[in-house]
Amino acid sequence: MYFYIHIPFCESKCHYCSFTSLKKKDYEEAYFNALIKDIKFQISQFNLSKNSIKTLFIGGGTPSVVETKYYEKLFQVLTPFLKEKTEISCEANPNSSNFNWLKAMKELGINRLSFGVQSFNETKLKFLGRIHSQQAIFKSLENAQKAGFNNVNLDLIYDTKLDTKKMLEYELLHLEKIKPLIKHLSAYHLSIEENTAFAKRFHYKKNASNLMRFFIKGIENLGFKQYEISNFSKNKPCLHNLAYWQGQNYLAAGLSGVGFYENQRFYTHKSLQAYIKEPCFRNIEKLNLEDLNLERLFLGLRSVVGVKEKDLSSAQKVRANLLLKAKKLQFERGRYFNKNFLLSDELALFISS
Ligand SMILES: C[S@@+](CC[C@H](N)C(=O)[O-])C[C@H]1O[C@@H](n2cnc3c(N)ncnc32)[C@H](O)[C@@H]1O
Ligand code: SF4
Repeated sequence: MYFYIHIPFCESKCHYCSFTSLKKKDYEEAYFNALIKDIKFQISQFNLSKNSIKTLFIGGGTPSVVETKYYEKLFQVLTPFLKEKTEISCEANPNSSNFNWLKAMKELGINRLSFGVQSFNETKLKFLGRIHSQQAIFKSLENAQKAGFNNVNLDLIYDTKLDTKKMLEYELLHLEKIKPLIKHLSAYHLSIEENTAFAKRFHYKKNASNLMRFFIKGIENLGFKQYEISNFSKNKPCLHNLAYWQGQNYLAAGLSGVGFYENQRFYTHKSLQAYIKEPCFRNIEKLNLEDLNLERLFLGLRSVVGVKEKDLSSAQKVRANLLLKAKKLQFERGRYFNKNFLLSDELALFISS
C-alpha cells in the first residue's frame, strides 16, 4: 500500500499556490491529534498488515514548519507498518528546515527529502512570493547532506513571465553547481490556479514551448533523465509518484487528503475545523471504467508508464495506431509509449476525442 499524509501549514502563501496551506500554526496540537486518529482508522479500515506500506509521502503545505516532536508521534503509529526499505519522503522548505530538524527527521526514518526551491534567482523568488533567499537554498542543501540525506529532490518552477533564455541559463548554472548534492528534480511549468494571487493574470505565465524544451534539454544534459513531464532523476524515479501514475491504490490522511482504492476516491474534510472534529470522515466518489481509463491515458502518456492497449476502446486504438504510424508513439509489450512528454495532453486528447 502507498500512503500520503498532508501537513497543511506554511509560513506564508506563495503567489501561485492553491494547495491547502494555512498560515497559522495555532492548531498544530489539535491537528496532529486528529491526524493520528485518522491514520489509525485508515490502517484498521483497510486492514493493513505489518510491513505493508511500500512508500510514505509527507507533503504539504510545508512539513518543515512543524516541530519534530509531532512526527515522533506519527511514526510511533506508522513504523510497524513500514517495509524495511520503504521510500519515506518529506517535503521541506529552505527557510524552515534547519540542521536539527533535518537530523531528527532522518533519525525518525525519512530517507528522501524534497526541497521547495522554485528558483535560484532572487527577483524570480520574490515574483513567486517565496520568502527564502538563494543563500538559504545552499545552506539547507548543505545541512541535508550533513544530516545524512543522500536522496534529495528539488522542486523548481519555470515558464513564468520572467523565464527568458538568460534566466533559464542562470537556473541551469546553479543546478550544475549543486548537482552532486541532489538525485532528483521536479521542474513544474507554472500553472495559473484559481484563488491564488496569480489567478486571472495569465500573462504571468510565458507559454513558450521553445524555452520549455530548452530547459528540459538543459536538465537532461546535467545527467537527470526525464521520466515524467515534470520529473527527472539521476538513477531511480520517486516510487510514490510512480504509483499514482500507474493507477495503484493509495491511502491519504490529513486535511484535503485524497485517497484512491479500488476505483473509488476518498476525500477528507477541506476545512480545518471540520477535519479536527471528524478526521475519519470520507466523501466517496465512485469512478466509472470510462473515467478511469481516460485518467490512465492522460497519466500514462505524461510518463514512462505508457498506456495499455487493452485499456483503450476500439475507436481509441485506431487513433493510437495513427499516432504510431506518424511516429508520435511507440508500441512495446502491449503498451503505447510517448517519447515527447510536452505533447502528452495533445496526444491524449486526440486518442480520446
Ligand atoms: C505542495 S508544494 C509543497 C512544497 C513546499 N511547501 C515548498 O513550497 O517549499 C509542491 C510543489 O508544487 C509546485 N507547485 C505548486 N503550485 C504550483 C503551480 N501553480 N504551478 C507550478 N508548480 C506548482 C511547487 O514547485 C511546489 O514546491
Ligand atoms: S508552494 Fe509550498 S510554501 Fe508556498 S504556499 Fe504552497 S505549500 Fe506553502
